[in-house]
Amino acid sequence: MNNELIEKIEKLKQQHNAVILAHNYQPAEIQDLADFCGDSLGLSIKAAETDADVIVFCGVKFMAETAVILSPQKTVLLPDELAGCPLADMITADQLRDMKRKHPDALVVCYVNSSAEVKAESDYCCTSANAVEVVNSLPKARPIIFVPDQNLGQFVSERTERDLILWPGYCHVHVVITEDDIKNAKAKHPDAIVMAHPECTEPVKALSDQLLSTGQMLRFAAESKAKQFIIATEIGIIHTLKTQNPQAEFVPANEKAICPNMKRITLEKVFWSLQDLQYEVTVPQDVRIKAKKAIDMMVEILPVK
Ligand code: 13P
Ligand code: SF4
Repeated sequence: MNNELIEKIEKLKQQHNAVILAHNYQPAEIQDLADFCGDSLGLSIKAAETDADVIVFCGVKFMAETAVILSPQKTVLLPDELAGCPLADMITADQLRDMKRKHPDALVVCYVNSSAEVKAESDYCCTSANAVEVVNSLPKARPIIFVPDQNLGQFVSERTERDLILWPGYCHVHVVITEDDIKNAKAKHPDAIVMAHPECTEPVKALSDQLLSTGQMLRFAAESKAKQFIIATEIGIIHTLKTQNPQAEFVPANEKAICPNMKRITLEKVFWSLQDLQYEVTVPQDVRIKAKKAIDMMVEILPVK
C-alpha cells in the first residue's frame, strides 16, 4: 500500500517539478520519502536554493511561511493546513509592537518559530543553530529583545554573556522533558552522551553534555565515537539518528516528547497535497518584504562548526 502511494507521489512530483522538504521531527516514512530532511536553518537554505516550482513542506506552518518569504515565486504547500506551532503562536505582532514601545532602543531578534507578522516586526531572525552567532554579531551597546522562546533565550544569554529581554514563550513538547528524566536515563546509561535541544528547560540543559539544533545533533552523532546517546528533544529525530548510525544506541530522554503538529503529516496527505496543490501557504507582500530582511540575516550568519 505504502509502495503504491510512494510511486504515485513520485509521479506527481515529476509532473509538477516539485521537491519534498521534511523536518527532522517528521514521521519516519515522511523523512524517508523527502528529498531533503533537516533542521529549520537547513530547510530555509534548501527552500531558497531549490529550482523546483513547487515545495511540499512536511513540517509546520512557520517553516512553510519562511520558504514563501525566501522564494515567493514558488508554490509552497503544507499537506495539513492545521499543522501549526503553539510556540510560534505565543506572541502576536501587536504584543511585540507593545514590547518595542517599552524598549525603544532595543534590537529585536526573533526565533524562526514565529509568525511572518512577528518576523516583519523584527530586526533579525535566528534558528537554534545560529542564535548565539546572531546575538554575538549585534552591537554591545544596544539592548536586545528576544522572542518568543524563553528557554532558547536563556541559553543564548548564557553563551553570549548578554542580558536579553525575554518573552515568556515555551515549547510544550520540550518542557515535558524533566531533570528527573535526564537523571534516570543517565543512571541507566552512565556512558551515554546527553544531547539536548536549547528549547529544553534550564535544569535539563544544565545536566546535558551537548546543546544542539536537530541538524547539529545529526552531525555530532555522525562524527562522535560514542556508542550511546540520550536524546532530549522530539523523538522523531531518533529515526534518522539510528538510520545514519546503526552501530550506536539512541535513548529518548522522555518517550512522550512528541510534537502532535509535526505528526499531522502523513503519506496520504502528501499525495493529496501534490494531487490538488493544497494547502498553498501565502504571506501578504508588505509583510513578506519586511520579514525577508530579518530572515536574510538568519540565512547569512552561519553557525560556527
Ligand atoms: P531545529 O531548528 O533545531 O530543527 O528545531 C526546530 C523546532 O521546532 C524545535 O522544536
Ligand atoms: Fe513548535 Fe515545539 Fe513542535 Fe517544534 S516541537 S514545532 S517548537 S511545538
